[in-house]
Amino acid sequence: MSDETFYLTTPIYYVNATPHLGHAYTTILADTMARFQKLRLGTEQVYFLTGTDEHGDKIVQAAAQAGESPQAYVDRISGIFLETWARLGLAPNQFIRTTGEPHKRAVQRFLQQIYDAGDIYFGEYGGHYCFGCERFYTEKELEDGKCPDHQTTPTFIKEQNYFFRMGKYQEWLIDHIHRHPDFIRPERYRNEVLAFLREPLEDLCISRPAARLTWGIPLPFDDRYVTYVWFDALINYISALGWPDGDAFRRFWPAQHLIAKDILKPHAIYWPTMLKAAGLPPFRHLNVHGYWRIEEAKMSKSRGTVVRPLDLADKYGVDAFRYFVLREMTFGLDAGFSEDALVARLNADLANDLGNLYSRVLKLIRRYYGGTVTHASDNGELADAVHTAAAAVAAAMERFAYSEALAAIWSLISSTNKYLVTNEPWKSDPEDARTKEVLFTAAEILHATATLLWPFLPQTAERMLQGLGAPNSTASIHFHDIGSLLKGRQTGQWQVGEVPSLFPRIQATVAKPPAVEKKSAPAPEVTPEQITIEDFRRVDLRVAEVIEAEAIKGSKKLVKLRVKLNDEERTVVAGLKEHYPPESWAGKRIILVANLKPTSLMGITSQGMVLAAEDDGRIVLLAPEQPISSGSKVR
Ligand code: MSP
Repeated sequence: MSDETFYLTTPIYYVNATPHLGHAYTTILADTMARFQKLRLGTEQVYFLTGTDEHGDKIVQAAAQAGESPQAYVDRISGIFLETWARLGLAPNQFIRTTGEPHKRAVQRFLQQIYDAGDIYFGEYGGHYCFGCERFYTEKELEDGKCPDHQTTPTFIKEQNYFFRMGKYQEWLIDHIHRHPDFIRPERYRNEVLAFLREPLEDLCISRPAARLTWGIPLPFDDRYVTYVWFDALINYISALGWPDGDAFRRFWPAQHLIAKDILKPHAIYWPTMLKAAGLPPFRHLNVHGYWRIEEAKMSKSRGTVVRPLDLADKYGVDAFRYFVLREMTFGLDAGFSEDALVARLNADLANDLGNLYSRVLKLIRRYYGGTVTHASDNGELADAVHTAAAAVAAAMERFAYSEALAAIWSLISSTNKYLVTNEPWKSDPEDARTKEVLFTAAEILHATATLLWPFLPQTAERMLQGLGAPNSTASIHFHDIGSLLKGRQTGQWQVGEVPSLFPRIQATVAKPPAVEKKSAPAPEVTPEQITIEDFRRVDLRVAEVIEAEAIKGSKKLVKLRVKLNDEERTVVAGLKEHYPPESWAGKRIILVANLKPTSLMGITSQGMVLAAEDDGRIVLLAPEQPISSGSKVR
């Protein structure tokens, strides 16, 4: 096992609102990265932290509005965050709360340490205070004298407070950023921070008089004051590991932090200088993502309802939701969220590309070999494609480029689809050695694909592995093994059980196709020769209504139907008695091939053929989706 450890944090979220898409997004990113690192390094080497930020004016106001005590209020909302993460299948190692005693003790210790070192001093401060932001603004930061966020005029407050000598560490920080080019990434945010640091860095006010704000942590050296927002919240990243003496702190610090651009400054400037003043090593990387723009209006227009994005995880499934947000946003940039785009991705990438490939391969293995396919040769076909995909995923995840990592996995899926279309196992003799080899290889690649996918779509990956009879694989396979799995394999077999349907296709309810990247069409289940539209038009498909049905004596399968097409009546013989007994037919609307040459079956002339779909021996009749008159043409 590697000595390398990976410690990843999300921001701790304010409890003045319940969880929304933005909070879920960062936590999904962190969960995915933690799972990926667990595959790479081993479960014990990875620590994933999230939690809630529970002190301050805003929380007191929100509690008052809800008619609750601050403590009851923060307990309740924090509980909602915890429940939401469980519902989304997110699995942090710890959920920290800033109202917890261990955190409060760590904050006081941290403050005392910096105070003792002489980097906290008492002074007077006058400034423009925005109650919405809970912070002072300098003249320069205001826009037309107003808070740039709230567009309200701040209150001028003059009071005595404690200050952190942040300015003292400005040169050190600039130098550190220059010497560690990926300390803050992507680069645009690093540049933003460096631009900010061109101006002199002011000292940071870190306290509030307890007379004005009681819902905070008292300063250890002056209990007339409580500490203020960032000197409380940022310290969660080390208090959670039991700083100063905790084993976890020794093992896991320094962290990789994950945040959105809204809290860049406190993380990129306050936090490293605070750590420096306390004599602690700075974090490893600050990874900054963009903002979701939520197109609620668009959603409500096309679907008739306003949908909260998080509800879409319930509606379409957690993995479809995860896939969409991970695939759609380029790390670092903003992105638009819309339900239509989610459905389009679900249908194209998940139901078609991945779902069809998986069920096609597993069903053939069941049909041909009763579920067991044994290794036939070790020529390692597609091993290079798996290797390339695994390397590309690892390289992309190193940069938090989730969308690129998924694109690499989909390129493997597409190569596998092409491999099947080229080899057409559905047309070949099951006993042919080549057929076995192709299906064995396909199963092998699906196994590797499931492992690659596990960090991103854990539930789907686990179902895929279950269907392949390899349920515990993610625990035992390390990421770097994936590429070599296929090469030189001498023995092995796949034992396919029930084939789960991974993603149902969602019927689009909007007329206009949503604007998402077009995907190449997946291979159909059986690849027949291609026909032109003219060829298709030669088939006269009609809606017909069944008037009556009777069994045909001496036949196990055949049933004789009397059907109506507009004013015309016909007799049709269908081989569907075992699936649809005679008494089940009357009144059904079906689809009929109306211009089929009449044929005689058991002495009865049949004038047409009933359409039905088959899935692994199960037969389902095709029918119009809504009532429509008999005789209507199918186009
Ligand atoms: N409590 C502070 C953070 C303290 S960390 C030591 C805070 N809380 S917050 O509830 O406002 O959460 C901000 C974070 O939520 C963002 O940095 C981001 O992770 C996430 N998001 C909130 N809205 C978002 C979007 N619209 N889009 C993407 N993520 C956003 O700030």
